[in-house]
Amino acid sequence: MLLWMPTQMLGFINMMSHQAIAGGERIFEIIDTPLDVVERPDARDLRPMRGDVTFREVGFAYGSAPPLLRGIDFRAPAGRTIAIVGPSGSGKSTLINLIPRFYDATFGQILIDGIDVRELTLTSLRSQIGMVMQETFLFNMTIRENISYGRTDATEADIVAAAKAANAHDFIGELAAGYDTMIGEKGVRLSGGQRQRIAIARAIVVDPRILILDEATSAVDSRTDYLIQQALDRLMVGRTTFVIAHRLTTAMRADEIRVLADGAVAARGSHAELLDRSPTYRTIYETQLRPT
Ligand SMILES: Nc1ncnc2c1ncn2[C@@H]1O[C@H](COP(=O)(O)OP(=O)(O)OP(=O)(O)O)[C@@H](O)[C@H]1O
Ligand SMILES: [Mg+2]
Repeated sequence: MLLWMPTQMLGFINMMSHQAIAGGERIFEIIDTPLDVVERPDARDLRPMRGDVTFREVGFAYGSAPPLLRGIDFRAPAGRTIAIVGPSGSGKSTLINLIPRFYDATFGQILIDGIDVRELTLTSLRSQIGMVMQETFLFNMTIRENISYGRTDATEADIVAAAKAANAHDFIGELAAGYDTMIGEKGVRLSGGQRQRIAIARAIVVDPRILILDEATSAVDSRTDYLIQQALDRLMVGRTTFVIAHRLTTAMRADEIRVLADGAVAARGSHAELLDRSPTYRTIYETQLRPT
C-alpha cells in the first residue's frame, strides 16, 4: 500500500517531463524562427507624416502558400476613409497588416507620403499608425497603463480625455479602483464592447495620422454599438482611415468602398454605386452588411 502512491507519482512525473520536453522544443523553434520583417541598416525615420497611402501593384503570399493578394493598386489620399469589404478569408486583415509592416508585400510597394515603408525604421512607422483590431488585445495591467500604452509620456489629462472621447470614462468610473483597476487574469474581466472602447482610447492617445480599424464581427447590444460607433467617429476625424467594414453604417460613412474578392480589388465606389453595378458587393450586402 505504501509503495502504491509513489509508483503512481513516478508515472505521472514521467508523463510531465515528456510534455515539458515537447513544449520546450516548440518554444525554441519559435524563438529561432527568422523574422519576416527586418529593418534595413540604412532605414530612416519617418518624419511626422501627412498620411497619404499608396499601394503599387501589391501582391502577397504567406510563406510558400499560393498568392492571397495580387495586383492591389490604389491610393488613399491623406484624411480619407476607405472601407474594405469582402468575403471571410478574402485577405482583408492581411491587406491592412501590410501597412504597419507586420508582413512585407511579396510583390510591389506600399508607399506612405511617397516613401516605401521598407525604407523606414519600424518604430517611426508604427508609432504613427493607430490600430483597433478584430480581437482587442489588452495587457494584464491597469486600465490607465492600457490606455497610455502607445505613448508612455501621456499625462493624466490626456488619458482621461481619450477615455471620454472613446465613451469609456463612464464605465471606468463605475469600477471600484477606476483607472487603477487591473484588467485580465488577476483583475476584472471586461466585456467585448468595453475592451473595444479601451482600444479606441489607446489609439486616441497616440494621435496617429493613419488609422486601421478591423471591425469586430461579434455582436454587441445596440446601445454599446452606438457608443462604439460614436467613439470611432471621433477617432477618425482628420486621419487617413482604413476600415474593414462588417456593418452597413460603417461602409456607408466611408468616402469610398473597395470590394476585395479572389485576392484583388473587384470594384470600388460608394454604397449606392456598388449596389447598382457590383454583383459581388450585392452578395456581400445581402449576406454580411444588411441589418437583419
Ligand atoms: N499568419 C498566417 N499564415 C498563413 N495563412 C494565414 C495567416 N493569416 C491568415 N492566413 C490565411 O489567409 C487567408 C486570409 O485571411 P485574412 O485574415 O486576411 O482574411 P479576412 O478577409 O480578414 O477574413 P475575416 O473577414 O474572416 O476576418 C485565410 O485563408 C487565412 O487562413
Ligand atoms: Mg479579418
